[in-house]
Amino acid sequence: MYDWNQLVEDCNNCRRCDLHKQRKNCVIGRGNVNARVMFIGEGPGEQEDLQGLPFVGPAGQLLDLLLDALSFPKDSYYIANIVKCRPPLNRVPTDEEAEQCLPFLRRQVILVKPRIIVCLGATAMKYVIDREARITHIRGQWIERKGYWMIATFHPAALLRDESKKIPAWEDFKKVRLKLDEIMGEGDFPVKTQFTNIS
Ligand code: URA
Repeated sequence: MYDWNQLVEDCNNCRRCDLHKQRKNCVIGRGNVNARVMFIGEGPGEQEDLQGLPFVGPAGQLLDLLLDALSFPKDSYYIANIVKCRPPLNRVPTDEEAEQCLPFLRRQVILVKPRIIVCLGATAMKYVIDREARITHIRGQWIERKGYWMIATFHPAALLRDESKKIPAWEDFKKVRLKLDEIMGEGDFPVKTQFTNIS
């Protein structure tokens, strides 16, 4: 049985691509490992690499603000990334780096078993939803696939750079919050809470 301990060990030992050479920490995830909603970003930045946790820098602070403003229960979400090691100067991960890292993310999804997957930004959308799509075209649209409700929205870092993305992103986050209520209203099993900040 593939479990969390195995995943953490495999990630920390991973040398599948060159990103491991400069990592201070392998950044696996944070939040409730039994959450209903899984947010997926691109890859760790400087703070994430230092602390070993995803979304703890400026983009993460904005993400936390959005989640709090919409009253997402703390145990309703889990946050991860496409790649688990920081790309130099925060560049976008290459296809090769993403491909090498995706098996870890797939295992994480299987372990968390979320009902909703939210792709934060174009990189997450590309590798999770559609290689050819454009974030500006498909954001805010629900896609039901393999038992998961999936949606893409702008990356919180994009909201910090471009004010005009804030309102559409807010609308997308509201849709996610409503979907969570819908799912819980369907007599979904109660969420088991087990927070992690493992790296
Ligand atoms: N941006 C991401 O995509 N992920 C993080 O963990 C931090 C910033």
